[in-house]
Amino acid sequence: MIALGCDHGGYELLQKVMEHLDETGVAYKNFGTFDCQSVDYPDIAYPVATAVAAGECDKGILICGTGIGMSMAANKVHGIRAAVCSDHFSAKYTRLHNDANILCLGGRVLGDAFALELVDLFLNTPFEGGRHQTRIDKVHRIENAKENV
Ligand code: RB5
Repeated sequence: MIALGCDHGGYELLQKVMEHLDETGVAYKNFGTFDCQSVDYPDIAYPVATAVAAGECDKGILICGTGIGMSMAANKVHGIRAAVCSDHFSAKYTRLHNDANILCLGGRVLGDAFALELVDLFLNTPFEGGRHQTRIDKVHRIENAKENV
């Protein structure tokens, strides 16, 4: 199950992503927003990120104008590794090396067809593990450090 969310800057692209997931048989849960009215991206990033962090959804896709605000907000949730990607190499390697669990896209940055290719790479590329798991563990140790207030 893939958690989906967007603000008004990502609304149109998210509709394309949902059509694509429907066509490819990927199950998703859409956390909104549900129209083009202006909304604050943290209000969408938070429920998507918590659904992924809690294991209710396997991965997430968040779309705003640039993808950046969504990634900043999502990465505040413990256990989230959200990556903004605007190229194929990054979309592939953020799975292989970072085990990214949320893909953030810029609806005002990417063409639809290009973005859908990034979605497929993100959803279909496994994590390599090994030394990369050690590094991820260190990332989360920073997140959990007591002095990190
Ligand atoms: C909304 O105008 C825009 O700021 C938002 O979609 C996003 O790009 C923020 O990072």
